Amino acid sequence: MISRLFALLCRFAPLKRLLWRRWYQFLAGHYKIEEWQMMNYGYAPLPATPLILLDPADESERYGLQLYHWVTQSADLYGGQVLEIGCGRGGGAAWLHHARHPDSTTAVDFSAEAIALCQQRYSAAGLSFQVGDAERLAFQDESFDAVVNIESSHCYGSMAAFVAEARRVLKPGGRLLFADFRDTDKLDALRQHLLGSGLTLIHESNITPHVLAALDADNDRKLALMRKIIPQQLMNSFEDFAAVKGSLVYEEFRTGRMQYYHFVLEKAA
Ligand SMILES: C[S@@+](CC[C@H](N)C(=O)[O-])C[C@H]1O[C@@H](n2cnc3c(N)ncnc32)[C@H](O)[C@@H]1O
Repeated sequence: MISRLFALLCRFAPLKRLLWRRWYQFLAGHYKIEEWQMMNYGYAPLPATPLILLDPADESERYGLQLYHWVTQSADLYGGQVLEIGCGRGGGAAWLHHARHPDSTTAVDFSAEAIALCQQRYSAAGLSFQVGDAERLAFQDESFDAVVNIESSHCYGSMAAFVAEARRVLKPGGRLLFADFRDTDKLDALRQHLLGSGLTLIHESNITPHVLAALDADNDRKLALMRKIIPQQLMNSFEDFAAVKGSLVYEEFRTGRMQYYHFVLEKAA
């Protein structure tokens, strides 16, 4: 019920931004637990694909990190300047920085509570977190080799503003590494925003089956964690948010009403 009302109110762009910001502020302000580093639906590769090696401490967030790996693997991040927009609780940015060795990783989120959590939790030379808005970035033109954007854009008031900002801050030859979901009838609009950005399309794929497989594989872990920390009266809303099996959001993916896409776009050199 709460999820349906939320979805209804999100049809109005300024309200959508406000509601999502409030939600992420609430999550980071109330749930500071170490075990919760990622906030995406995850990615499960095909069975024969070798799995990425993770530190034992990151193993519980394997599916969320696999999504970061999958979305960013086409770009050489080594020695580069990376910007993540919508970093959430910071686990993805910290892992990318550690695993892919860019010179710097700058991660922004519009939730000040989430950024405070990231700053407390992660510290490494070249890794920084700051409050920032995807639709109005506080960076110079052409300052990054890659812009990473994972499961965040569905919250934005203006996708056009985000795409223009991503293009502006990319260096020539730099890549936008993007993944997110949409209702199936909104996919064309998403594609038009990305392709109309002046960036060149390098890759597009529907990764919904991989996301569903990750939701299935990670279901019990997520439910156990939620039962530990979420009060009973909020469980339904959290089950939808986390897309646990049988929830409204899980069913939207399963029935094809919602789909998850991966795009890679490049700024002309
Ligand atoms: C589903 S979470 C994903 C977080 C992270 N990318 C991950 O995969 O774990 C979406 C994130 O996008 C952030 N976000 C939403 N709208 C934003 C905006 N306009 N500017 C910056 N961050 C935004 C939210 O605060 C939230 O942390």
